[in-house]
Amino acid sequence: MIIQPRVRGFICLTSHPEGTAEHVKQQIDYVKSKGEIQNGPKKVLVIGASTGFGLASRITAAFGSGAATIGVFFEKPAAPGKPGTAGWYNSAAFEKEAQAAGLYAKSINGDAFSDEVKQQAIDLIKQDLGQVDLVVYSLASPRRTHPKTGVAHASVLKPIGQPFTNKTVDFHAGVVSDISIQPVESQEEIDNTIAVMGGEDWKFWIEALKSAGVLAEGVKTVAYSYIGPELTYPIYRNGTIGKAKDHLEGTVPVLNSLLQDIGGVSYVSVNKALVTQSSSAIPVVPLYISLLYKVMKEKGIHEGTIEQMQRLFAERLYKEGEIPVDEKGRIRVDDLEMRDDVQAEVAKLWEQATTENLEEISDIAGYRSEFFHLFGFNFDQIDYEADTNEVVEIPSIK
Ligand code: NAD
Ligand code: NA
Repeated sequence: MIIQPRVRGFICLTSHPEGTAEHVKQQIDYVKSKGEIQNGPKKVLVIGASTGFGLASRITAAFGSGAATIGVFFEKPAAPGKPGTAGWYNSAAFEKEAQAAGLYAKSINGDAFSDEVKQQAIDLIKQDLGQVDLVVYSLASPRRTHPKTGVAHASVLKPIGQPFTNKTVDFHAGVVSDISIQPVESQEEIDNTIAVMGGEDWKFWIEALKSAGVLAEGVKTVAYSYIGPELTYPIYRNGTIGKAKDHLEGTVPVLNSLLQDIGGVSYVSVNKALVTQSSSAIPVVPLYISLLYKVMKEKGIHEGTIEQMQRLFAERLYKEGEIPVDEKGRIRVDDLEMRDDVQAEVAKLWEQATTENLEEISDIAGYRSEFFHLFGFNFDQIDYEADTNEVVEIPSIK
């Protein structure tokens, strides 16, 4: 079929198999260009491996340090008249590139929050790898069915205490407007968001993997968090999602004591704000990102997901000697985003931003382009008028 972008709100309903493969290939090429990561991981489980930071982590482990990888994700193959999801095509492309490079790569498509998928991962590790030495936890989801209670929790993106009014952008139309977001109406909304995006499921994974004996001596596990600037605090760090991130970060000491007897250690890495399927759904944040990209590109310090994850592995997780962390024990690869000079310029531009000057003072064009890249569109190498086969198999999934 001929596949072109079909956008509804902040989501794109279609994905291009060859375009997503190109996107994966560019990320692989970047990691290879940076050379081998010394003493990097060798057997890696990535939970949330099909898009965004999780995919970039998988690519970095495989092509930066020759790791065997098992990826867990929740994606859809093509159905009649409908292309598969970007994460499906990404994973198919990744496995093919890994195989061609002689690297082990298998995937599990299913609900990572369930006990069944955890058991499938354990069985696969036992069968093929024995143990893993790195577990990356990179899920982003709007809902979670709790495996013990069966309760379906839905997360919300809301401020807590009072309404929040600020600028936002419709990044397709390029229109800047004010948005007011009402605060949560109950503690339950906060608790539900923590249940979905907090650390409980990460803990369930590590407990299950450990009691099955599939975590290697000295295992590392890492999950991803975000802080960002004060202007997004009400909707992000001090809002419902921020409470979930507090919980995720608070899970680190719990996991550290769980892993102590096998010399294992857990980390949260605070990453940079980037265009992903998840972040484009958060009000206010896309305008911040488009101003941030402008400033960071001008200063020559811009990074995308793959640059972030390559740096996380090479200069933090597998750096020789002590891993640099902040006063709360967190790894910071948002260090360049949070630099005073960067934040001061973004804050100045934030005050000025209007529909009229948006193209000029922000990198809204870069935002849009990256958004389309997530779905395999907007690559010069691809002919989007041409017929393409939308039915693509992930080699390890029959
Ligand atoms: P993403 O949407 O690109 O990736 C989410 C992944 O989770 C996908 O692989 C998806 O298939 C998988 N997934 C979702 N629900 C699942 C389920 N039920 N079972 C199995 N897999 C499931 O998101 P992302 O932006 O890469 O986010 C990953 C992590 O990084 C999140 O914790 C996020 O908060 C954090 N983070 C994101 C940003 C940002 O700006 N995007 C910044 C800092 C930290
Ligand atoms: Na991810």
